Amino acid sequence: MITSNIIAGCMNLGKWGVGMSTQEYLSHIKCCLDNEITTFDHADIYGHYTTEAEFGDALKYDKSIRPKIQLITKCGICLVTPNRPLHRIKYYNTSKTHILASVDQSLDNLSTDYLDLLLIHRPDPLMDPEEIAEAFHILKQSGKVLHFGVSNFSVSQVSLLKENFNIEVNQFEASILNTKSFYDGTTDYCIKTGIKAQAWSPLAAGKLQVAEDDERSRRILAMSSILGEKYNASFDQILLSWLMKHPANIIPVLGTTKIERLKAAKDAIKINLTREEWHMLLRAAIGHDVP
Ligand SMILES: NC(=O)c1ccc[n+]([C@@H]2O[C@H](COP(=O)([O-])OP(=O)(O)OC[C@H]3O[C@@H](n4cnc5c(N)ncnc54)[C@H](OP(=O)(O)O)[C@@H]3O)[C@@H](O)[C@H]2O)c1
Repeated sequence: MITSNIIAGCMNLGKWGVGMSTQEYLSHIKCCLDNEITTFDHADIYGHYTTEAEFGDALKYDKSIRPKIQLITKCGICLVTPNRPLHRIKYYNTSKTHILASVDQSLDNLSTDYLDLLLIHRPDPLMDPEEIAEAFHILKQSGKVLHFGVSNFSVSQVSLLKENFNIEVNQFEASILNTKSFYDGTTDYCIKTGIKAQAWSPLAAGKLQVAEDDERSRRILAMSSILGEKYNASFDQILLSWLMKHPANIIPVLGTTKIERLKAAKDAIKINLTREEWHMLLRAAIGHDVP
């Protein structure tokens, strides 16, 4: 599964964020492409099931875009919303019927014949690995989905599915504020099996700026500003380079809606922090030396 080095997250582009018009989607997509960001991360539920279709309107408007991009989407979460009047509670559905129906809906929304990557959005306690594999086989054979993965799965959950189907990606939360995956085996398992690691909220969903008066955020901001001076880089670039230094080759799924932040992200790839600098940021995050 080939993606760009930075993936553009689409969660905040529509009704859950800035509410882009079709023309704004088009200029956002074009700006990504100009900056070598060719992969776009969706989920059926974004914008209460509306963002995929808004993005799809942009693809319909300019048909030259689809062959230049890779589309990721997810399924498996059922939200309570007027757009899904039959849902009485929020729940997970990883049944074969649901996966197949969800993909058909996403293809229609995104105005495309195929998805580059489909992820099961969250581990479902009721999931049956053989049933999921059966759905994936059908989707692969029909050409509707090229690659398959999971999101927020533990090592045992991924390995269970992997016994039945070639799982190529795990997308999980990782940032300077959330390093759980470095210690619970998630990134180790990616390295061991060649599963591609994708990190959502790589800039901690903007929480560091919001919590500038919080002690931990202040320490991280101060250390990134010292390193930023050395590398002539912004705070965002330093934190992205920190994540990308990890040997699991983590690909950030960036959630920004701002063109200047997308442009800056591309250059973060060029920064190569030393091991000592990497640990200086870790130390700022945990508040003490490593043991
Ligand atoms: N698989 C999953 O379960 C899952 C869960 C959540 C998200 N995701 C995916 O991951 C993507 C990214 O998630 P995220 O949005 O939480 O990621 P993020 O890139 O960590 O955060 C983006 C948010 O932080 C703000 N931000 C970034 N840098 C900033 C700065 N220097 N100053 C102030 N604000 C700043 C952005 O605002 P601006 O727009 O103003 O830049 C935006 O609201 C989503 O779009 C979605 O595709 C997946």
